[in-house]
Amino acid sequence: MIKIENLTKIYSTGVVGRGGIVAVDDVSFEIKTGEIVSLVGESGSGKTTIGKLILRLIKPTKGKIYFAGREISRYKPLEYYRNVQGVFQDPFSSFNPIYKVDRIFENVNRYLLNLPKSEFWGKVEESLKSVGLNPRDVLGKYPHQMSGGQLQRTLIARALVIGAKFLVADEIISMLDASTRVDVLNILGDLRDSMGLSILFVTHDLSLGYYISDTTVIMYRGSIVEMGDTEKVFKNPVHPYTKMLLESVPTLDRKWKPSEEIFKVEGDVTSFKGGCKYYSRCPFRKDVCREFDGKLSEVEENHWAACILFGGD
Ligand SMILES: Nc1ncnc2c1ncn2[C@@H]1O[C@H](COP(=O)(O)OP(=O)(O)OP(=O)(O)O)[C@@H](O)[C@H]1O
Ligand code: SF4
Ligand SMILES: [Mg+2]
Repeated sequence: MIKIENLTKIYSTGVVGRGGIVAVDDVSFEIKTGEIVSLVGESGSGKTTIGKLILRLIKPTKGKIYFAGREISRYKPLEYYRNVQGVFQDPFSSFNPIYKVDRIFENVNRYLLNLPKSEFWGKVEESLKSVGLNPRDVLGKYPHQMSGGQLQRTLIARALVIGAKFLVADEIISMLDASTRVDVLNILGDLRDSMGLSILFVTHDLSLGYYISDTTVIMYRGSIVEMGDTEKVFKNPVHPYTKMLLESVPTLDRKWKPSEEIFKVEGDVTSFKGGCKYYSRCPFRKDVCREFDGKLSEVEENHWAACILFGGD
């Protein structure tokens, strides 16, 4: 469905001769039809940049993105956005507070679909129901009369009305309370199963990624450090960064206690140019890691990691 090939995005710093910020650094992965891929990593690791590149909100510095086998820049905007849509963290920012919620649907019909009114509103009601909303609780209301969870579901329904096949969901549940989070996650899972919707689920929360995704991609400073079947990445993590992230997930059955092996870094922790990006934070680092090219190697079927300890050169 979506294929990302050697994608790089360097943001200009605006200072001549200073280079730029490498937000995404030679990233390749694929999202298949009816698959949920979670993109996980700490703040600034490049997750949103990848989402924006897929949504054509920014242009890549290098590399290509394909949708249904065709490079995304070759689609006309209307054709592309009929298929690929995004939902973001703050649902309130997607609505204009002075208009009723209906307006986001009206605009869809005006600019994208041009269906007869009765057919269109029938579709809206159907989509609202498929995300667990009663159309009467949504239509005719102002955004401030609805909860964050209702607004987020309304935005997902909007993507469904459009008939999108691929959804970029960037931290869409971070602002919701715990029980609403699970509801929205379940809706995404149901849409994948019933309609074959493909989703890039961007999150910094590993447990949410585990709950919902088929494939997990772990990013660190613009690069993929580990990816593969979610079960394999979580049950058999091999990259020290993934291990550290997993150790950091709070669980109800234990009080927080750092694992010495994963967190303790001794000696010089100054960073350097080249080599493994995780070097300065890695408890397992060796001199040879300074020469590591950061390429992914296969750990097992459908599971790759970029660490010299696990098959790198
Ligand atoms: N418009 C921009 N101009 C310059 N630098 C940017 C711009 N947008 C993002 N960056 C930088 O690119 C890097 C990646 O940012 P990005 O927003 O993709 O990270 P993220 O993984 O989504 O983080 P978060 O979890 O905080 O949302 C960061 O270093 C960020 O400061
Ligand atoms: S390559 Fe070396 S520094 Fe990098 S994660 Fe692996 S062990 Fe750590
Ligand atoms: Mg982000």
